[in-house]
Amino acid sequence: GKLTQDELKRVAAHRAVEFVEPGMTLGLGTGSTAAHALDRLGDLLRAGALPGVAGVPTSLKTEAHASAVGIPLLPLDAASGARIALSIDGADEVDPDLNLVKGRGGSLLREKMIEGAGERFVVIVDESKLVPRLGCTGAIPVEVIPFGAPHTLGLIRNLFDGLPGFHARLRTVPKTKGDDGSEQPFVTDNGNYIVEMFFEDGIRGDLRNISDRLLRITGVVEHGMFLGMATTVIVANLDGTVAVMG
Ligand code: A5P
Repeated sequence: GKLTQDELKRVAAHRAVEFVEPGMTLGLGTGSTAAHALDRLGDLLRAGALPGVAGVPTSLKTEAHASAVGIPLLPLDAASGARIALSIDGADEVDPDLNLVKGRGGSLLREKMIEGAGERFVVIVDESKLVPRLGCTGAIPVEVIPFGAPHTLGLIRNLFDGLPGFHARLRTVPKTKGDDGSEQPFVTDNGNYIVEMFFEDGIRGDLRNISDRLLRITGVVEHGMFLGMATTVIVANLDGTVAVMG
């Protein structure tokens, strides 16, 4: 029969782990797809197949998962001598140029720091993540400093002023209300907030330029468009085939 979406994620993850060699320091991704890679790495390490492999976790959740399965961890610290040879992570969307949306799970800043520092970045997805344009299937997240977050949200809205179908909002935690009944903001691993940008039919235009303009807003820390970062994308298709792009 057909594979479930979770089985597809596992297929892509296991294929990516085949790129791991003894002695490598890895960037360890976050999310349900990357979790399969962590499990697989843990199994191989326990079997003694990958001596000297260690990982730099991209979130607190991944840090906990990786330690639970026995992957030795390192900080993102040049002084420790850890050169990240390969990062493995999922994505929310992949466009035809292998640009990504990441961070709908809430992690993006540590992911971008770690995956941008490595030599190779292998992205693992099932075919539902392939899109013609970034932002087609949901939000593009932007991590912002909590101080003045509504002000920063306004500046982000100004960037896309008048664009039909565009809207942006502060991400909140579902069903968690404060004492006064107000919605609580989602807080990242870094203590920051997330602004979610929505585009009708995806974001159009020069993505590098849009990225630059977002990053120039004081109060914006980073955004979830990963442009030109993926070196390989592994796609598990519903028909059981696996495509390796890049
Ligand atoms: C974490 O915030 C994200 O960047 C994830 O990498 C992304 O959401 C993919 O997660 P799934 O593999 O669970 O779809």
